Amino acid sequence: MLAHSSALETGAAPPATPDEALDPDAMRQPLGDAWYCVGRAEAISGAKLRAVELNGEQIVVGRDPSGALFALRDRCPHRGMALSKGRFDGASLTCPFHGWRFGTDGRCRDVPTLSASDAADFSKIAVQRFPVSESAGFVWLNGHLGRQGADVPAMPELGFTPRGSLVVELVVEASFDLTTLSLVDPGHVAFVHDSWWFRPSKELREKVKTFQPVPHGFVMTSHATTTSSPVYRLLGGVPAVEIEFRLPGVRLERIEAGPKRVANYTFATPLTRNRTMLTNALYWNIPGLNLLKPVARPLMRQFLTQDQQVLQHAQAGLDRKPTMVLFGQGDLPSQWYFRLKREMLQAQGEGRPFRNPLTRQELRWRS
Ligand code: FES
Ligand SMILES: [Fe+2]
Repeated sequence: MLAHSSALETGAAPPATPDEALDPDAMRQPLGDAWYCVGRAEAISGAKLRAVELNGEQIVVGRDPSGALFALRDRCPHRGMALSKGRFDGASLTCPFHGWRFGTDGRCRDVPTLSASDAADFSKIAVQRFPVSESAGFVWLNGHLGRQGADVPAMPELGFTPRGSLVVELVVEASFDLTTLSLVDPGHVAFVHDSWWFRPSKELREKVKTFQPVPHGFVMTSHATTTSSPVYRLLGGVPAVEIEFRLPGVRLERIEAGPKRVANYTFATPLTRNRTMLTNALYWNIPGLNLLKPVARPLMRQFLTQDQQVLQHAQAGLDRKPTMVLFGQGDLPSQWYFRLKREMLQAQGEGRPFRNPLTRQELRWRS
């Protein structure tokens, strides 16, 4: 029997049992060793550099001559200059301050101001390199320094070839945990997202949904009914909907109706301790939907802005008193988030595989 209510410190899990020697500060931070979305892959092409922020770290991302992504700390070791402000010829980055040159592997290749008679050896100088990858049309970064864990949650993939996509990004002045909770919180939808196009009925209805564990997260499966959102009805028929949450802050909504596929993916990225990026990507394999893009973009932005506004106000309240009361079955997914995060931290700390602590469960709430 799971407890249905508990008081939490912001970003902290339910009270730790004595044998859990977990640094409470680690629970308040976003997971260090994990993949985070840092922008669209197509925005980085040719000899373009892109400065991104992840967990308080400034990182410069680009592509080497083979097209492979690289990510380096955006800080010249000489005097701290941002390398993203410098020149990139496709193979090496030149710092704009004194011209030190670095390969895409981070190693210093040249210090042009050195005299030929100077014995100083620049080959030992290097810029920190970060693991970077590409998936579902986005760039994913792992900002963890030191040994990488073997059991890091997989980056989201798209199970079909998209015929179109729509991406909206929004910065929320709130912590990563608070923002990520909004991805698994069914209770806010009726109050925050009450736009006619998303939720035509104003009445709260009883919901019964089955949740089950998946690697590093949980999934809710259901069949949409004809009373559901017009967005689902656009697809025709009775679409099957599956919503997966996966650590560190990934929500994957997959909608299927016959051969038609729509995916609505949301990613949370910690920029700093109190600023989080929300990225929403909608993909589809139905060519006709491309015509709706000019209408859909402002609606998607409106939807994300609704979350942004309420999260910022809630963060202000949590800044004054950092406790939450997670209450009732509608808040269980929020509790699960903290349990998954805690297990991930423990597994990584002990160097063992992640063991999903969740079990299959039916939840009831009104929304
Ligand atoms: S700060 Fe980069 S070369 Fe001096
Ligand atoms: Fe929301």
